[in-house]
Amino acid sequence: MREFEWDTGDLADQGGRTVVVTGASSGVGLEVTKSLVRAGATVIAGVRNVAKMSALIPRLTDGLDGGSSGRVEARPLDVSDLRSIDAFAAELAGDGVALGALVNNAGISASRFALSRDGVELTYATNLVGAAWLAERVLPQLTGPDPRVVLVGSNFSQRTQAMPDLGAVGDPARFRQLAAYRGSKIAAAAYAVDLGERLAAAGSPVRSVIAHPGVAATAMAAQADNVVTKAIAAVVLSRLARPADDAARSVIWSATSRDVVQGVFVGPALRRRDRRLHVVPVRGGAADPAFRARVRDFVQTATGESRVLGQ
Ligand SMILES: NC(=O)c1ccc[n+]([C@@H]2O[C@H](COP(=O)([O-])OP(=O)(O)OC[C@H]3O[C@@H](n4cnc5c(N)ncnc54)[C@H](OP(=O)(O)O)[C@@H]3O)[C@@H](O)[C@H]2O)c1
Repeated sequence: MREFEWDTGDLADQGGRTVVVTGASSGVGLEVTKSLVRAGATVIAGVRNVAKMSALIPRLTDGLDGGSSGRVEARPLDVSDLRSIDAFAAELAGDGVALGALVNNAGISASRFALSRDGVELTYATNLVGAAWLAERVLPQLTGPDPRVVLVGSNFSQRTQAMPDLGAVGDPARFRQLAAYRGSKIAAAAYAVDLGERLAAAGSPVRSVIAHPGVAATAMAAQADNVVTKAIAAVVLSRLARPADDAARSVIWSATSRDVVQGVFVGPALRRRDRRLHVVPVRGGAADPAFRARVRDFVQTATGESRVLGQ
């Protein structure tokens, strides 16, 4: 649809804007937080380990001049746990926070089958259910300027035609690390499109957009579970991986640009020398209304929420 050069030096002043970034304590999330703060935003870092995040804050704000409004606040949030999400959202509401963006960045690729506290396979609980539930719960707070929900997705959702069998997600015998990660990201992208459509139909100004970092050299790359996957990951990383600050640009643009439109997929090309951002229509499962409906059902079952979400 469109491609263009963009760097964080082009970032407009974010003074007066408050953004929630989940998983802000490493990798892409840390770089997104750094750029937003340096541009004057208040970032609420939703993190599992508040002490770890708090120790990073001086590095993020170091060198900001006294007049800058940029600041970071670390708040506890485990996105694989519905009660933690509810508590996080309730605190934002209690504090009367008006958000400009939610950046649903936290994500995992669990190497073994495990269930979340709510009884959902952990990769899906984190990458899909947690991201979806957090978006639904903070919607009332998305009243700041130019509001949007940004899902940090994966190119898998664009490049994979086969859709995950959501009925098999809870079956330990059918668990495979890569399939669970890929499936959760395809489903999360579908949920993001579904959310955006419901918001648009309800006349909401909140947009829903998917940003992917390309292949990023972060801790996630070390989550491979066996020798073969580790070897494949090493080859892919050596050929394609971008440093985290480069990979974060698509997410930062999506969280801040006035040009963001509903339901697009934003990211770099696979070739790391190509630094353009590409904004393209969603493809694969996210573009399929029947799959989107199945994902909505999955999230509703996982959250015990039967009403139509997002309204
Ligand atoms: N790296 C890539 O090539 C790549 C490609 C496509 C998409 N992505 C996506 O990019 C996003 C960021 O990943 P990354 O590459 O930056 O990896 P990363 O460095 O491992 O960052 C993941 C972040 O998510 C946080 N997190 C994990 N589970 C959480 C939970 N239950 N509650 C709250 N926070 C949680 C982690 O927190 P802790 O610090 O507490 O561990 C960490 O800060 C993910 O959604 C990933 O799927 C990455």
